[in-house]
Amino acid sequence: MEERQENGSTEATGQVQDSAAATQRGLWGSKAGFILAAAGSAIGLGNIWRFPTEAANNGGAAFVLVYIACVVLIGLPVMLAELSLGRHTRKNPVGAMLAISPKGLWWLVGTLGVLTGLAILSYYSVVAGWTLGYVVKTVGNTFTPETDAGAVFGVFAGSWWQQLLYHAIFMGLCVLVVIGGVKAGIERWSKILMPTLLIVLGLLVIRSVTLPSASAGLSFYLNPDFSKISMKVVVAAMGQAFFSMSLGMGAMITYGSYISKRDNLVTSAAWVGGADAGIAILAGLMVLPALSLAGIQPGVDQGGAGLIFAVLPSVFSQMPWEPYGGIIFGTAFFVLLALAALTSAVSLLEVVTAYLVDERGWARKKATSVVAAVAYGLGIPSALSLGAVGWLSAVTTLQGKTLGFLDLMDKIFGKLTLTFGALLICLVVGWVWGINKAAKEIENGNPRFLLRPLWSILLRFLCPVAIATILVYLIIDPSVIR
Ligand code: TRP
Repeated sequence: MEERQENGSTEATGQVQDSAAATQRGLWGSKAGFILAAAGSAIGLGNIWRFPTEAANNGGAAFVLVYIACVVLIGLPVMLAELSLGRHTRKNPVGAMLAISPKGLWWLVGTLGVLTGLAILSYYSVVAGWTLGYVVKTVGNTFTPETDAGAVFGVFAGSWWQQLLYHAIFMGLCVLVVIGGVKAGIERWSKILMPTLLIVLGLLVIRSVTLPSASAGLSFYLNPDFSKISMKVVVAAMGQAFFSMSLGMGAMITYGSYISKRDNLVTSAAWVGGADAGIAILAGLMVLPALSLAGIQPGVDQGGAGLIFAVLPSVFSQMPWEPYGGIIFGTAFFVLLALAALTSAVSLLEVVTAYLVDERGWARKKATSVVAAVAYGLGIPSALSLGAVGWLSAVTTLQGKTLGFLDLMDKIFGKLTLTFGALLICLVVGWVWGINKAAKEIENGNPRFLLRPLWSILLRFLCPVAIATILVYLIIDPSVIR
């Protein structure tokens, strides 16, 4: 990969120079560097932990189809909007809103994004901590074909000290990466990680789909039953698309603010969105055929956040060359998942940090540590909500189902405020800042922006109407977010 000259002046072909301020603030080293870092943000627990669980709970193949439609028709246009706003203003979400509308109240959209990021980070780190705990477990050969993986997860999740410990270790790792700065910290990791994750995932998919008991899960995942498409499925699919693509709270505004003016935003967004959806769909192919191993029937609502941790160890224990095959693959998988989660969590931490550094003048190190400490504290109830503390584990019931605090946080911040944020971002970019100015920014690095008319229609009309419909529906019938 070719490294870009920092000051941009040596590149004769660049049509627009990156301003001195931008280069001082930091830019990605290359277009590929940005794509990998943004894919690093997008690809994470959302793909491997959340997507298969959502698919299992929401009609399998029907969910996958609606999900793909949401990614293409809503996710990609919103991603392009976030990237163009970020690159144009070279700011964090709050600063970006203030830059295009200094007098209005639109900066509140940025604030909502920053708060949402903090909240998501709090429980994201808890689940990421589980992947660290599972590295230890697989190395120690905890899982044999006879092990009841669900019971093992139950004991692990119910142990308060393990939950708090792994949550702390993971948050500490995030701090180390973010203090390293954008290019050195975030970009370097993503380059090695993403390709390796893909290979290990591919091999595990092969094992999973060739399991003797794979067929029920496989057909549930691949044969769409259109009668299963309901409002609940659409709500889940759209929320999943935003979460997985890191949209709706300004992460892509922030990452966009470090892109060079010479890069093509449309192809970058397409790469990031495509890689993200591809990995999610592969992860489903790994998890759903294996549900039967854990005695779980696809389609019966499983709800819980622990699904993949109860299912996957059974796949590993079925790897050839027992027990070494399972140990090697299980360990590789959880290490990679932890690292994928790290590059995602880092983007959440980076948004809040960039806000405090740019808007409040904090030193980077102080901002990073304080944000991480707050997110850690906010995550404690989530960490204790899978059995360790009874009342946190059953905070609320929706339709006769008990939900733990972590699930509740994911519903409120991973689904609701993210969807609301995405709606507001469509309105800000499409109408307040204006589609023409946004398109002009996109034409830097892409002078023939062929999809401009289509994008303009999607962003100004289809996306807001579709997202608003979902939100209105949610207000009328909150039980659809489950
Ligand atoms: N997209 C990440 C994942 O799939 C999580 C994530 C990172 C995120 N940054 C975000 C989610 C911003 C919403 C908003 O794991």
